Formats: sequence, structure tokens, C-alpha cells
Amino acid sequence: MIDRLPDPQSTGKLSLEEALAQRRSVREFRPDLLGEEQIAQLLWATQGVTGEGGRRTAPSAGALYPLEVYAMTSEGLYHYHPHEHALSLVHSGDLRRRLYEASLNQEMILQAPLTVVLAAVYERVTVKYGRARGPRYVYFEVGHAAQNLLLQATAMGLGAVPVGAFRDDAVKVMLDLPADHEPLYLIPVGYPR
Ligand SMILES: Cc1cc2nc3c(=O)[nH]c(=O)nc-3n(C[C@H](O)[C@H](O)[C@H](O)COP(=O)(O)O)c2cc1C
Repeated sequence: MIDRLPDPQSTGKLSLEEALAQRRSVREFRPDLLGEEQIAQLLWATQGVTGEGGRRTAPSAGALYPLEVYAMTSEGLYHYHPHEHALSLVHSGDLRRRLYEASLNQEMILQAPLTVVLAAVYERVTVKYGRARGPRYVYFEVGHAAQNLLLQATAMGLGAVPVGAFRDDAVKVMLDLPADHEPLYLIPVGYPR
């Protein structure tokens, strides 16, 4: 079952230039939870559909869209569905301690009320661009999506940090991701402490 999220806002308090100037990696968070509207806005910024043919907020080589977005809160792990702007529950329960352990005990994963997991299905890109260039395009794209999320968080008065240091297999197993969803980035988000 998928639950539609609140529509994203198209205006905010900060200009793009202000968000660029203010973005900083934040690694300490207050325990305050994020509301559904905040989570919806952050996920939309990451991979929301904004145009014809399913075009999204971030560019994608050949419009092949290899990225899969997951949202982890104290309540569970959810999968984001860009076309429906909706979430489906993957696992209920607080998985943060296990993700923290799989991420080399980086404390912010334990503290943050939300961690966005960006995973990729390489095959969607390598079928067209091959095994040499395909992965490069996937890495570019995850950077685009991550930057969108970081700037959106800043614009909303939130803090975030992109985390690339984690044990790939441990994260994949503990989140029980499908075999072809390879986790690339973990991005904890919350109110800066
Ligand atoms: C590819 C990549 C991986 C990163 N991985 C981590 C990480 O595992 N843990 C962490 O605390 N910060 C991580 N960072 C954040 C950097 O440490 C941070 O961006 C850098 O110190 C510059 O600071 P700023 O983001 O505040 O400008 C990563 C950044 C990038 C681009």
C-alpha cells in the first residue's frame, strides 16, 4: 500500500543563493521529529517528478532514472515513489541503531529524525551506456540528487550531511534492499543542535 504525501511547496523563505551560501554539513541534531510535510518536501527535492515524461528535479543521463530513494525515521523504513509522490512502508520499527552500526558508528545517524538513503539500480544505465561509462553517470546523478536534498534542507532551516562512509553489504542487508538496489549515500537530516 502506498500513501500519498502532501504536495510540495514551490516557494520558501530562503533564495537559492542564500541556501548555497548557508549550506554546511551538520552532524549534531536535536531530537525533534520532522513532520510529514517536511519529509515530503525533502523527498520531492531529491527525486520529485516535475515535468512531462516523468522528468525530475535532478537531471538523469538518458532520462533513465537509476536512483531509488528510501526514508528512514524512528517509525520505520519507507520507499519513495516519485510518480505518485508517495511512500510505501518497507519495515516498521526503529532501525537507526543498526544503520548507525553499519555506518562505522557515525553518531548523526543515531540522532537524526530522518535519514534519506540514496540507492541505485546500475543496470538501468549500463544497458544503454555500458559497464565503463554507466557507473560514472550513476555517480554524477546521485550527486545531483544529494545536492538538491542538502539545499532543500538548508532552505527549510534544517541541517544535513552526506555520508559516504558505510559498509555497503551491511547497509543493504539491514535495510533488506532488493538485490539490485545498491546504497550509495546516506543523508541524515534534522534540526541542527
Ligand atoms: C562523497 C562524500 C562523502 C562524505 N562522507 C561523509 C561521511 O561519511 N561522514 C561525514 O561526517 N561527512 C561526510 N561527508 C561530508 C564532508 O566531510 C563535508 O562535505 C566536508 O567536510 C566539507 O564541509 P561542508 O559540507 O560543511 O562544506 C562526505 C562528503 C562527500 C562529498
